[in-house]
Amino acid sequence: MAKTAELIIDGKSYTFPIVVGSEGEQGIDISNLLESTGTVTLDFGYKNTGATKSAITFLDGDKGILRYRGYSIEDLADKSSFLEVSYLLIFGDLPSPEQLTKFTTDIKNHTMVHEDIKKILDGFPSTSHPMGVLASLFCAQTAFYPEALDPNRAAEGVYLSMIRSLAKMPTFAAWAFKNAVGHPVNYPDNSLDYCSRFLKMMFALPAEDFEIDPVVSSALDKLLILHADHEQNCSTSTVRIVGSSKASIYSSISAGINALWGPLHGGANQEVILMLEQIKKDGGDTDKWINKAKDKNDPFRLMGFGHRVYKNFDPRAKIIKKAADDVLEKLGVNDPTLEIARKLEEVALRDPYFIERKLYPNVDFYSGIIYRALGIPVDMFTVMFAIGRLPGWIAQWKELRENKEPIGRPRQIYTGANFRPYVALDKR
Ligand code: CMC
Repeated sequence: MAKTAELIIDGKSYTFPIVVGSEGEQGIDISNLLESTGTVTLDFGYKNTGATKSAITFLDGDKGILRYRGYSIEDLADKSSFLEVSYLLIFGDLPSPEQLTKFTTDIKNHTMVHEDIKKILDGFPSTSHPMGVLASLFCAQTAFYPEALDPNRAAEGVYLSMIRSLAKMPTFAAWAFKNAVGHPVNYPDNSLDYCSRFLKMMFALPAEDFEIDPVVSSALDKLLILHADHEQNCSTSTVRIVGSSKASIYSSISAGINALWGPLHGGANQEVILMLEQIKKDGGDTDKWINKAKDKNDPFRLMGFGHRVYKNFDPRAKIIKKAADDVLEKLGVNDPTLEIARKLEEVALRDPYFIERKLYPNVDFYSGIIYRALGIPVDMFTVMFAIGRLPGWIAQWKELRENKEPIGRPRQIYTGANFRPYVALDKR
């Protein structure tokens, strides 16, 4: 028998169906709540609200499980590649060898960006944060490909926009970095794979040979896989809500990039390294900083700790912690902040404050340490997160469109002034 939930308001009972997901999670379907009861729900930060049904990513925060289209993140990080995972997220199944070759070739064919993009880039001062530049350049694609504004665009056109997004993202990202350091931009070298191409655009200098270190490019590929999707988080919900107005894929994803930028979301990876540096400079007393994080009168939070959904451990953090050890060893890097990170984790995991609140290291805690070992500057950490998250945003935007979901429009409980007559300025 189908499950239902009963709600009693002012003694009157209402029944709502319970929707059960493929992993047994339950949601009370209140689609007709307002119509039948005259009330709405109130849920700050959407902590208990399912905004959609989605077949892309499964996440069990209590058990620390993360799966893309049914495949475990551990398996994918170990055996797959970022472009294969991108295909999986966007189209629902792993590609055949022919499908992957076509997908990869299509992406290679679109890595160049219009030369006029350079004029836009030139308008940004070198003090611009690369995330702001990235979001702007990404949205600027609407100017170069206005056909993407058509909300009823045929599937081939939508495919082209998705390919262009994946192809040009590393070019925009590397150019945002070049703008920050005041160097001339590099063009994409299509003889290289996705990550190596990005690294060359980032680091190659004119008239110098540039060699790709396979340790660096494969570590980067793994990091991108780990960031590729994470169901209805702040930036993904932003992409979906913007997309629900039938805004273009470029403007929807540009909004997602902006949402990711905040320090409580993707911006945390940059904050973690700054925090570790600060603790190091301060003498490395981790207890002092743990106490600051616990002090409710102190705005300091332990960056890279805690998660809205994971209440056991973040499986991505486990993989990244191990990858950090491997990468640092292979590259022969000795990063003193890694020791501070390990000490902080150790102290926090024994501390009742963190235990009671189920606060564990999240994906951002160790990722900055690897990025730094790979030579990525701190300001670019969140940009790296955005490159990784792009296939997830695309998949979610496509799903929303295919499911013909209604425009996102939350309700509110108004708490402002009641009606008051306007009083002219000279009578006040
Ligand atoms: N340091 C100290 N206390 C914390 C922390 C932290 N990092 N995170 C949560 N708490 C406390 C918080 O003060 C609250 O305590 P109390 O119940 O006494 O008021 C309790 O734990 C619950 O926190 P919350 O802010 O209500 O939880 P949330 O689900 O709204 O926030 C979070 C989740 C990730 C924003 C938060 O844990 C946080 O600010 N962490 C630091 C920033 C960070 O690392 N963000 C990256 C998240 S993972 C990457 C991504 O997907 O974006």
